[in-house]
Amino acid sequence: MLKSALRPVVTGLSSRLSHGAAVRAMAATSHAEPGLSIGGSEVHGFVGAVGNTPLIRLAKLSDETGCNILAKAEFMSPGGSIKDRAALFLVKDAEAKGQLKPGGTVVEGTAGNTGIGLAHVCRSKGYKCVIYMPDTQSQEKIDLLRMLGADVRPVPAVAFDNPQNYNHQAKRHAESLDNAVWTNQFDNTANREAHIQTTGPEIWRQTNGKIDAFTCATGTGGTLAGTVRYLKEISDGRVKGYLADPPGSVLYKLVETGKLEREGTGSITEGIGQGRLTSNLAPDLDLLDGAVHIPDAESIKMVYRLLDEEGLYVGASSALNVVAAVEVAKRLGKGSTVVTMLCDGAYRYQTRLFSRVWLQSKKLDSAIPERLQKYVVLP
Ligand SMILES: Cc1ncc(COP(=O)(O)O)c(C=O)c1O
Repeated sequence: MLKSALRPVVTGLSSRLSHGAAVRAMAATSHAEPGLSIGGSEVHGFVGAVGNTPLIRLAKLSDETGCNILAKAEFMSPGGSIKDRAALFLVKDAEAKGQLKPGGTVVEGTAGNTGIGLAHVCRSKGYKCVIYMPDTQSQEKIDLLRMLGADVRPVPAVAFDNPQNYNHQAKRHAESLDNAVWTNQFDNTANREAHIQTTGPEIWRQTNGKIDAFTCATGTGGTLAGTVRYLKEISDGRVKGYLADPPGSVLYKLVETGKLEREGTGSITEGIGQGRLTSNLAPDLDLLDGAVHIPDAESIKMVYRLLDEEGLYVGASSALNVVAAVEVAKRLGKGSTVVTMLCDGAYRYQTRLFSRVWLQSKKLDSAIPERLQKYVVLP
């Protein structure tokens, strides 16, 4: 059963912090959670290998800023992304609530990585998996889902208030089947619970509590909300939390001005940026200390810098997170330690991110410095 030490619904920061002792106690035990690491040298199957990713110090950026820029290597998770954690907790939540029984079907609306995580978890637990996704997503992700045995249904990308939005289609399909669940990653808070129970405690343990801020972008908001909530609680409010946002999302303005307004138009990043406040983010929005808006030109440049300077081959949302971590470190000043997430590898996007034609079509080829142009190897 999912632990729920942090579940009480509270409204203000001070009342949230009163749960700090419970959180601290949980930090010591969270990795005994069945399905996650058992603490020895072996783990149980795919689900046991989820989480406990390395925390990597980015040397060049740390030297440049005089800070510690640290990043969780979520691309090393067995399904290849940060969303393995949410996928596992969404399925465990459905099992615990009796919504999913042996041989059942998991249905989700997902831009890709949650679907990939769910497809892996479903194979490992013997469930069927149906994925609805906007047809704007990369072919690599669609192909991978099909290879993992999922029934993939790309549908036109329409706004959330349209009944044909991929999430609503997923919900209706699950309702039409017996023994099926719509895992509802955007508004099912089992998603953020994954980060309260695993990501947050891992970061606290890996930094020995020497962390000043955490920042990352949001898709569902589960990672940011869950991790910031845990870190605020365990540090009695000392650790700061910052939202990182791509162009076209409404959350940067929401955090900075209180207005739900888009900043910029679309983005090359996938899996992040939001047009609404999800139930995963809403309870913890007031915990955030600020937001940073990152233009695509900076994100793509960082994709290439991380490859060249650190040997890290990561996607654009990871690169955006690192740009944000550098910005937050500059705001906090020399000597500060900022943690972020490397959400997935570039493998899922390589035909775009490393293609000259694609970069030109997005007017981003000039964002890549001369010395890094050698990595643009695809036509
Ligand atoms: C590549 C990538 N980065 C970041 C995120 C955002 O994570 P979250 O949904 O926890 O906000 C996602 C979500 O799907 C993603 O696919």
